[in-house]
Amino acid sequence: MSSEEKVLKVSKIEHGTVIDHIPAGRALYVLRLLGLTGKEGVIISLAMNIPSRKLGKKDVVKVEGLELSEDQVNKLALIAPSATINIIKDYEVSTKMKISIPEVISGILKCKNPNCITRKEREPVISSFRVVKRKPLLLRCEYCGRFLTEEDVVEQLTGG
Ligand code: CTP
Ligand code: ZN
Repeated sequence: MSSEEKVLKVSKIEHGTVIDHIPAGRALYVLRLLGLTGKEGVIISLAMNIPSRKLGKKDVVKVEGLELSEDQVNKLALIAPSATINIIKDYEVSTKMKISIPEVISGILKCKNPNCITRKEREPVISSFRVVKRKPLLLRCEYCGRFLTEEDVVEQLTGG
């Protein structure tokens, strides 16, 4: 077989979003985070553990017709900090966004300490975590000091 024949490329998309450079093995988490099940009827292409010069291996998710909300982009940063978001219009990349984790994450995650003031039933304070370490991710509650690990974050955002 010629090297040309050996390559099966995932199709380009016409309009939508390509989430590229996802850490290898996390594509299904990304779909779950975006609430995509496949039953929506839109075209979704997914590639896992494909060779990447930058990451060694990476996952890619392409969703036809999808536009990410700011909230979705913020959550995505936490489970796929290496990801690049490409907005596709008429088959061309119209916007390329490199996402990143901010120093402080407010309102997205829940503290694991049941006695934390961010978990009060009446008038709780909005949660806020400071990044202690990025690889693997380690966060610390700004109110009670409880740590949140990368595993905790993935579980909270994707439901396990
Ligand atoms: N892509 C797509 N459909 C299009 C255009 C691009 O699915 N109509 C995908 C490409 O396959 C690639 C990503 O969108 O996975 C980004 O495209 P492009 O910027 O052309 O690729 P690179 O230059 O390799 O991107 P980067 O520099 O971010 O690695
Ligand atoms: Zn707390």
